[in-house]
Amino acid sequence: MDGSQLLVVAIDGPAGSGKSTVARRLAQALEVEYLDTGAMYRAVTFAVLSRGVEPTDDALVADIARSMELTMAADGTVIVDGVDATTQIRGPEVTRAVSTVAANVEVRRELVSRQREWTRRRGGGVLEGRDIGTVVFPDATLKIYLSASPEVRAARRAQEVTDLSYDAVAADLARRDALDAGRQHDPLRRADGAVEVDTSHLTIDEVVALLVAELDGSANA
Ligand code: DC
Repeated sequence: MDGSQLLVVAIDGPAGSGKSTVARRLAQALEVEYLDTGAMYRAVTFAVLSRGVEPTDDALVADIARSMELTMAADGTVIVDGVDATTQIRGPEVTRAVSTVAANVEVRRELVSRQREWTRRRGGGVLEGRDIGTVVFPDATLKIYLSASPEVRAARRAQEVTDLSYDAVAADLARRDALDAGRQHDPLRRADGAVEVDTSHLTIDEVVALLVAELDGSANA
């Protein structure tokens, strides 16, 4: 499928760069739907752990990704094989194992295909993740790479997870950054032609306004 015929906004960046909030708000502004692709990798990880399968068992993990029923509802609810997993996919067990599952090439193949299908059915959307502009929709209408300093990103995550210290969150973030950017298949990197926005010192409103202006600019180009 060619993303150039649809209104597709691809937002990539590391954890804590503001992707989810910005993507949700931008989708509202554009009156399109929003897809959190990280939640899909988390959903596969949840299904793997619930079945007692080792996240490193590539063949079994890939089978689960291909056969699982996954619903990404517009309100952010994530249903895995009929079970509401919205809260659990954010828990520490899933967070610890998700980078291993996301490094599985067959899992990536399956989820990329589901992400393209999701977008095709809706006639477009705002998608956020690590490989949206590089792999899922290299022809997106607008490609964004959000960044922020490691300290700012850790502080944002520490606010979300109240049961862990700043140091523990910062260490986990650094570990996941290294895994996501250093993996063999589709590592996190800025896509060719992506607009980079450092969100360290910007409010959400400022980032969203900047992206709407970029989109207007690319429509008029
Ligand atoms: O954005 P997040 O922290 O919820 O993402 C969870 C994990 O999934 C993270 O380790 C990176 C990975 N991921 C990925 O490899 N590709 C994507 N498109 C989205 C997330």
